[in-house]
Amino acid sequence: MTTTPRPTTTPGPTPTGTAPAVPATADRILTGDRPTGPLHLGHYFGTLRNRVRLQNEGVDLFLVIPDYQVLTDRDVAERLSEHVEGLVLDYLAAGVDPARATVFTHSSVPALNQLLLPFLSLVSVAELGRNPTVKDEIAHSRQAAVSGLMYTYPAHQAADILFCKATLVPVGRDQEPHLELTRTIARRFNERYGPVFPEPRTLLSEAPLLLGTDGTKMSKSRANSIALKASPDETARLIRGAKTDATRLISYEPELRPEVSNLVLLAALCQGRDPHEVAAGIGDGGASALKAAVTEAVNTHLAPLRARRAAYAQDLGYVRQLIREGNARANAVAEATLDEVREAMGTFR
Ligand code: TRP
Repeated sequence: MTTTPRPTTTPGPTPTGTAPAVPATADRILTGDRPTGPLHLGHYFGTLRNRVRLQNEGVDLFLVIPDYQVLTDRDVAERLSEHVEGLVLDYLAAGVDPARATVFTHSSVPALNQLLLPFLSLVSVAELGRNPTVKDEIAHSRQAAVSGLMYTYPAHQAADILFCKATLVPVGRDQEPHLELTRTIARRFNERYGPVFPEPRTLLSEAPLLLGTDGTKMSKSRANSIALKASPDETARLIRGAKTDATRLISYEPELRPEVSNLVLLAALCQGRDPHEVAAGIGDGGASALKAAVTEAVNTHLAPLRARRAAYAQDLGYVRQLIREGNARANAVAEATLDEVREAMGTFR
């Protein structure tokens, strides 16, 4: 296992041939995170860090905060504005530069939302109904009834992606059905009304790199994740409580010793070192030496991010201003696309 898994692109049915395996500066990248809680180290090492790298290489980056989507599996989106601000703070902490990247809330972009109507005309109820990710979310939802929004949010997600003509969408495997639908909608629109939308490729992230402190998938909804914004003490406490094993000699063997190896990997990622070398450095110090080393590595690596986050958190007025600016930019892009859609469909402005 390597410490930096290579992203792979799905072949994608683009008529222009096989998709390149790496993003190019000509790509427009769009991705996003539901505003339901703080981002954690799994997000950071899984995708966030990579987005910032792409941004810094000059790729045009859009980050959608899908605030309507929060309402798919609950009646009320509680503390929504707080979660949105928290998410933007996490982005800023990680190095997202609002001067270069467009960060926006999709509920604030009317023209994006309007695309949903023609898009819904291009998909059948049966197609919406057999989306495996939606089925899974319905099965795990505590809602008594399935809302229309739950059923249709993948078409809404197509609007999130197509309004800015994104060409590459970095997401986890669970999002692939939504990307497939997005390509279907783009293709059918173009066939019916003329060429407007590119068919975006998926930039698939590998299986989650980091496990939670209990050895299962790191998740916002389980008490097993280390938030980017956690304090050094909280971080120490979480790592102290992490599951390990009884073998004193520390090694990096993800198959044989998933919990210990996960901690080793976490330190290695923070220090940009090889995990075998990190394990060798701890030797037969046992779990407590390992945990002390991991805590130190995480807190050292995150210190500048956390300082940046704390500074922005002091000035929420500025953060809100950044959101308004991102929304204004997204609105201009969405209006231009909607104009093309009107022209293609023969509707009036
Ligand atoms: N559905 C995504 C999730 O649950 C969030 C999302 C909404 C998204 N719109 C998007 C992701 C557009 C990528 C592109 O995580």
